[in-house]
Amino acid sequence: MADQAEGVIVPFHLPVLLTEVLGQLGVRPGGVYVDGTVGDGGHALAFLRASAPLGSVCGIDLDPRSLVRTEQRLAPFGVQFTPILGSYAEMVSLVQGMLGSEARADGVLLDLGISSRQVDGSGFGFSFQQDEPLDMRFNPEADIPTAADIVNTWSREGLVAVLREYGEEPRAGAIASAIVRQRPISSTVQLASVVAGAAGRQSGRSSRSGADPATRTFQALRIAVNDELNTLTTGLQAAVDLLAPSGRLAVISYHSLEDRRVKTFLAREAAQCICPPRLPVCVCQHQPRVSLVNRRIIRPSAGEIAENPRSRSARMRVAQRLAE
Ligand SMILES: C[S@@+](CC[C@H](N)C(=O)[O-])C[C@H]1O[C@@H](n2cnc3c(N)ncnc32)[C@H](O)[C@@H]1O
Repeated sequence: MADQAEGVIVPFHLPVLLTEVLGQLGVRPGGVYVDGTVGDGGHALAFLRASAPLGSVCGIDLDPRSLVRTEQRLAPFGVQFTPILGSYAEMVSLVQGMLGSEARADGVLLDLGISSRQVDGSGFGFSFQQDEPLDMRFNPEADIPTAADIVNTWSREGLVAVLREYGEEPRAGAIASAIVRQRPISSTVQLASVVAGAAGRQSGRSSRSGADPATRTFQALRIAVNDELNTLTTGLQAAVDLLAPSGRLAVISYHSLEDRRVKTFLAREAAQCICPPRLPVCVCQHQPRVSLVNRRIIRPSAGEIAENPRSRSARMRVAQRLAE
């Protein structure tokens, strides 16, 4: 499927692990579902079909451009679909503001990262495949520093910390020095070429791992601009708060920094005791709020990866809300 913008056919993002998400969330007629990262609405469309005729789906996204198109795509479902502009970190107030203060969800999905349209389309500055201003905000109206603000104003030490922490970039020092030396840097291709120079390779040339030398820098800046890891921690908490008893949360992440956060958060929420191991007896009185549904992560099949190579790095974890 595709839509047409300014004469160019832009395909919709292919939803990742779609069959697995539907099965793990147990989407059923009449259920209430929240897609915290609705994007192009691929998962939401499947939720709407499987929960019809009386089910409902709230689709949240930070990107107003995606949300407008998704609203049009899902318009045939009428009031069954509620589009919401905002962050999934605020899903409790956003969803209850639309559905009522007692509303709870039978299933919540967080499909993290960026959609194909955001990588391939113009205006986001997420990719160095086309030359664009270095922005990287999901919402162009958001009053937050852009990637250009970060590369052009942060100290070398600040840049090293971001590249190490959010990009796990082994050449963080050399790249940060090159950025500081060659700024101002205003476009994606300019940044990619500065990074490639510091990494001793040409942008567009893959390393043995298959990635362009600038991939980690772009990931790090995107995470920093959108405060993605702190948002994830707050959003996971919000999702558990919003779930009805026996409701399920599915989280699809695309890199180890996200997956580690999800794993640690869910393990803690599911634990009977969170006391430090050195204590001889439990004093925490921790009440688990979820049970882990899959101890091993769920990954895309070889068939899905062949059909949609961008699904390759996806990993899904699922938890179920316990009764209160
Ligand atoms: C991988 S895409 C989701 C694709 C979607 N599942 C589909 O089938 O089309 C991730 C989406 O999350 C959105 N996003 C990123 N951070 C967000 C946040 N804090 N709150 C809400 N949406 C967010 C992005 O704008 C993007 O549209």
